[in-house]
Amino acid sequence: MASPGLPPYFSLGVCYYPEHWPSERWPIYARQMREIGLSYARLAEFAWSRIEPTEGNFEWEWLDHAIETLAAEDLGVILGTPTGSPPPWLLTKYPEILPVDKDGRTRTHGSRKHYDHASPIYRRYCQEIVAAMAQRYGDHPAVIGWQIDNEWGESDSTASYGPVAQDAFQDWLRHRYRTLPALNEAWGGVFWSQEYTAWDQTPLPNLTMNDPNPSHVLDFQRFATACITEFQNLQVDIIRAASPGRFITHNGMGNFEEVDYYQCVESLDFMAWDSYPLGQIDKGLLQGLDPTDWIGAGHPDLISINHDLMRGLKPGASTMVMEQQAGQVNWAQANPLPAANAVALWTMQAWAHGCDSVCYFRWRAATAAQELMHSGLLRHDESLDRGGQEIANLELPIGPLQAVTAKVVLLHDYESGWVANEQRHTQAWSYWKQMMLFYSTLRRLGVDVDIRHPDADLSAYAVIVAPCLHIVTPERAEHLREAAQNSHLVVGPRTGFRTESGRVPEDGQPGLLRDLLGCTLLNFDGMWPGTTIEAGGEEVTIWAEAYQPTTAQVLHTYDSGPLQGEAAVVRNGKVTTIGAFSSLLIARVLAQVLAQAGIAVVPLDEGLRRSSRGGRTLWMNFNDNERRLPDGRHIPAHDYILD
Ligand code: GAL
Repeated sequence: MASPGLPPYFSLGVCYYPEHWPSERWPIYARQMREIGLSYARLAEFAWSRIEPTEGNFEWEWLDHAIETLAAEDLGVILGTPTGSPPPWLLTKYPEILPVDKDGRTRTHGSRKHYDHASPIYRRYCQEIVAAMAQRYGDHPAVIGWQIDNEWGESDSTASYGPVAQDAFQDWLRHRYRTLPALNEAWGGVFWSQEYTAWDQTPLPNLTMNDPNPSHVLDFQRFATACITEFQNLQVDIIRAASPGRFITHNGMGNFEEVDYYQCVESLDFMAWDSYPLGQIDKGLLQGLDPTDWIGAGHPDLISINHDLMRGLKPGASTMVMEQQAGQVNWAQANPLPAANAVALWTMQAWAHGCDSVCYFRWRAATAAQELMHSGLLRHDESLDRGGQEIANLELPIGPLQAVTAKVVLLHDYESGWVANEQRHTQAWSYWKQMMLFYSTLRRLGVDVDIRHPDADLSAYAVIVAPCLHIVTPERAEHLREAAQNSHLVVGPRTGFRTESGRVPEDGQPGLLRDLLGCTLLNFDGMWPGTTIEAGGEEVTIWAEAYQPTTAQVLHTYDSGPLQGEAAVVRNGKVTTIGAFSSLLIARVLAQVLAQAGIAVVPLDEGLRRSSRGGRTLWMNFNDNERRLPDGRHIPAHDYILD
């Protein structure tokens, strides 16, 4: 079921900036949009200076006209609130709105995202412009939905480190801990003599001489999300009241971990996201992938993990791509042209991973300013570019939208990632890398995967996989204990290592999960990149930890290195713990668990993937040469087959 406002079938749209072009072109563009199969356009998310050129003087005629021109071709409109880029008059009047970066420098206007989300002045101006927009267009028949602001955290804007943020952080701490002894205990303030005796002594965690306290950093990250969410919800409340029957969303970023989207999504209908597969291939370096192997269409898992995550943020909701790369981008280290058919492949992949709609970035390539090297569906000269042609020729899956029904779930939470990343122990390790290791292993086994918060309802899953459940609270431990009664549970390393405030449990790892896992941690080893040991006959890199079984049985031991002879994988009934960073060992253990759970495994070559939705299966080849599917059919480079 699509969200209110969105078409009930898989649909396509485009990000469109009519204010960049003469209005005589608008009817022509709208007709072309319809002709190539688009259903809607997203407008206005950076149009503040045109909507309110000077304080209090709103100019709506151009936007009225732009919307009417689209509506005349039966196209819907998603309106972006323009708060991602306040106009110069506002910053000149109130420079205290500007954010301060981690190095203590006040940033300037001249591009975008130049505001501290905590600023009461900025919040007031945002509420005013959003209220004016919602009043004007809230019940316009062409308006199908709203996007709040643009990409939380983009341009390094997640947190500000100035006086406005400092006051807000201290308030947040006071509210969370109530007393200073509680705060000092939670953070372990006695260490290095950092016990606070007044709230206004609590600093921001930047510019410290040595490392800041990790629990302090964790709380600051929580605060940053809370601040963004509050900022967002001031707008959501206004639009909800004025625009019934339309969805409200935000466009999150891919492979981005700074903002806790589980918090943001609560007041939204769903979280959309912006997919730039080639802009993001350097993220593959993290996984040990050579980006140059994937310059044609990107790596499938680096894209789909985001679809799966966004789809799972809110139970019962779904997702869409709000900005889909449709040609070259302009902001990565190198910006290659996507291979022929890549745009079609990305679109179909989005569908198979549960997206209800895909909106391409952008309509016509910009002829001025920062993004003039970026592609559009139209080239600068207005001819239809390669991506636009692919879209025009695309045969979309028809029929009502169905949910993805995976039997395997991967548990993910931002807070575990934040606190684990703060003390990686080897710079080669990261929470996201640990997630990707398990995710890619499952995808290589041809299995569909949901991603859920560890506290979500897990009763639909036969297999629950927790690559790094770092923070475990008493409630979470109980929830997992219950979930594991009916499902297989597989956990990775660093599980149950931290309490809610980031301390280590007094009885060590895995703390409250000791009985469930049937083991305790002996040692962990943060390895130098490039060094390897072996466990169960397979290579292990980066991270190794060994367990002392209590009730568990040992499945695999380390064959070499400092943990030689100790347990690398243990099993306690239907609960398996894997402490070694080893894709082959994990694949072996997972394949066994999946078989026990009755889930069919279809081993796939790297770059070949299979995803199912609504009883249909999409086979995809992200490699730059033809491949054979397990059933012997050939699949061309960067192509797909829908069964
Ligand atoms: C996104 C952003 C868009 C545009 C795009 C270019 O991050 O939301 O406004 O800048 O990148 O690829």
